Formats: sequence, C-alpha cells, structure tokens
Amino acid sequence: MKQVLVTGGMGFIGSHTVVSLMEAGFRPVIFDNLCNSSESVLEGIARITGVKPLFIRGDVTSAADLKALFTSHNIDAVIHFAALKAVGESSEKPLEYYRNNIGGLICLLEAMQEHGVRDVVFSSSATVYGSAAHMPVDEDTPLPAAMSPYGSTKQMGERILFDTGSFRSVCLRYFNPIGAHPSGHIGELPLGVPNNLVPYVTQAAAGLRKALTIFGDDYHTPDGTAVRDYLHVMDLAEAHVAALNRLQQVQDRPHWEVFNLGTGNPVSVKTLVETFERVNGVPVPKVMGARRQGDVPELWANPGRAKQVLGWTAKHSLEEMLRDAWNWQQKLAQ
Ligand code: NAD
Ligand code: WQD
Repeated sequence: MKQVLVTGGMGFIGSHTVVSLMEAGFRPVIFDNLCNSSESVLEGIARITGVKPLFIRGDVTSAADLKALFTSHNIDAVIHFAALKAVGESSEKPLEYYRNNIGGLICLLEAMQEHGVRDVVFSSSATVYGSAAHMPVDEDTPLPAAMSPYGSTKQMGERILFDTGSFRSVCLRYFNPIGAHPSGHIGELPLGVPNNLVPYVTQAAAGLRKALTIFGDDYHTPDGTAVRDYLHVMDLAEAHVAALNRLQQVQDRPHWEVFNLGTGNPVSVKTLVETFERVNGVPVPKVMGARRQGDVPELWANPGRAKQVLGWTAKHSLEEMLRDAWNWQQKLAQ
C-alpha cells in the first residue's frame, strides 16, 4: 500500500482527497499547520472511512519539520495542497503569500529530493488564466501576467516544477470547487466572512449573514452576472487519485503535466443562487451590488485533457453540489 504525504490535508480540498485516497487503498499522511483548519476534521474523516488517518502537525516552510517527517515515514508520493488562498488578502500581505506558497513549495521539494521522493501533485488554480479571451479555456492558453500575488504564486509554482526536471509532477488547475462530502461529516470551514460565493450563500441562507451581495449584474453574460465553472469537491478529490495513479503507474509520461479540472459547464451567479433555492427549498436573502475588483466576467474550463489522459470527468450535478453544501452548513449548526 502506497504512503502518500498530503500537505494541507486538513483543509477543504485536502480532507476530501484524504477520504478518496483511503477508499482507493492509499495510506495518507496528513501534514498541516492548522492555520486554516481544525483538528476536528480528523473525526469527520474517521466517521466516513472508519479509520483515523495519520496526522502530523507541521509547517511546509520549516525544513526541520519536513526533515522529521521524511525521516520517520516512508513516503512514496506527495500531494501538495498547503497554501494560503485568499486572493484579496494576497495583495495586502504579498510577502506572507510568497513565503508560504513559494517558500513552502521549495522547502518541500528540497526535502523530497533529499529523501529520494520524486512524484508530486500540485494544487494550481484557474486563476492562472486571468481574464482569458476565449472560453472555454484549455491548458495551451497562454498565461497572462498574474492578477494577484496569489495567482502569481500558482503560476510560479507550476514553473518551478517545470524547471526542476528531477521531479515528476502533475499540476491540477482547479476551477471553482464547492460542496461537501455527502455525509456532511466534512466540508469547507471558512474563517470569518467567506470570500467565496457558496459559503456566503449557505451562511446567508442559514441566517448567519444578512444578505448575499451579488457582485455585478452588468457583465456581458446571458443574465448580466459573472460566469464560472463550479465542480463538486468529491469529483476534485477523485481527480487526485487519478493523477497519483498516473504518476505511479505510467513511466513514459512527460516529467511535467498540467490539467484543467472543471465540469466545462458555465454557470452564472444568478443561476447558482436560484438553483440553491430550488434544490434546498430555502430562500437566500440577496442584494445586487457593484462588481468586485479583480473579478473576471467569465471563466470556464475545457476539461478534455483530464478526460483523455487521466480518464477523469466531473460526475456530480450543480444540484448535488448545492444540496451537499447546504447539508454541511446545517450539520455545522448542530
Ligand atoms: P484550505 O485553506 O481549506 O486548505 C489549505 C490547508 O493548508 C489548511 O488546512 C491550512 O491549515 C494548510 N496550510 C497552509 N499553509 C501551510 C503551511 N505553511 N504548512 C502546513 N500547512 C499549511 O484551502 P483549500 O481550499 O483546501 O485549497 C487547497 C489548495 O488548493 C491550495 O493550494 C489552494 O491554493 C488551491 N486551490 C483552491 C481553490 C478553492 O477554491 N478552494 C481553487 C483553486 C486552487
Ligand atoms: C464566484 C463568483 C463573484 C462572493 C476564487 C479565486 C480563484 C479560486 C476560486 C483559488 C464571482 C461572485 C462571490 C459573493 C458574489 N481560488 N460572488 N458574491 O472569484 O471565481 O475564484 O476562488 O485558487 O483563484 O479567485 O470565486 O467563489 O469568490 O466567486 O457575487 O459574496 O461569485 O463575483 O463572480 P472566484 P468566488
């Protein structure tokens, strides 16, 4: 059974991926400093899988923490989620973002090199595309200058892996992951006021926020609101298993590959909110507001390469994503 280091494995996407890894027969070792997660996530994972995964508290920017980890565990491959991810905050604290996301990646790769570990899956983001001219975007779309320090850390992260040919890497560009495990035992835990749409919607529906502000209805899109590609976090989790299998099983692949992970379905803010209300039978208090600075009008994926090469496609509908997101919000309140 392969042992996989999952940095940031207590977080939103990491915790769901740990469940998928365990179900696929991998042994995950979670490494997280809990800066944006909580130890209670382990209980949630155990309730789903019946087994509490191994968790080591540590920081990917600490060579000492990584050394202790790699010397005490036989690691076959790494999935690197650990990063700071708030786009707006990254402009206020760029050094913190570069230190954590770039410093952390370099520190991790150095530790991997020292211990002879070559396979790594890297969490990238659709934010690398910025305001692309043609939809849907595929992986050959040239990348513009990043729109935020956060976006820049994802472009650089991909580039660092490309330049270091001694590693075998898969970069996964996530579009908009939402939802939660259908059991409601794990989900997203935004600290403070949510930046992302769906956690804001669920909190507004639950009465924890006065009203959702829809950021702009004057875009050149079918209903005037911005368009994105939302995918279920469990589909995203499964894609990591597919990426890992490819790294471990296919020897004659390029040393660096990149894949879009999305459904390929464009969905507007208005459609998402209406679908949430319909599926869950709850109203979402909402007001129309100005555009949010830095937002692109539309961004959705061509996920064809992931289908062709990884054999992965997103299976869950928007309805399922929003039902599971609401189920999680309600469990949180209990
Ligand atoms: P998250 O904040 O829920 O999870 C990240 C985890 O990493 C947290 O548990 C946090 O405590 C940990 N962490 C952060 N810095 C660390 C460090 N220095 N050392 C150890 N642990 C550290 O975020 P998420 O939504 O699960 O995102 C996971 C990855 O996916 C990130 O790299 C993020 O940039 C990327 N991503 C997320 C989205 C999204 O919408 N959620 C979209 C595209 C890409
Ligand atoms: C979605 C849509 C908002 C909140 C961000 C990052 C990206 C990636 C995913 C990490 C937009 C609108 C939102 C609200 C709203 N993360 N909105 N009211 O902006 O597509 O992408 O998360 O890599 O890098 O930029 O996602 O969920 O913030 O917004 O109207 O209160 O919802 O304007 O059109 P986004 P989001």
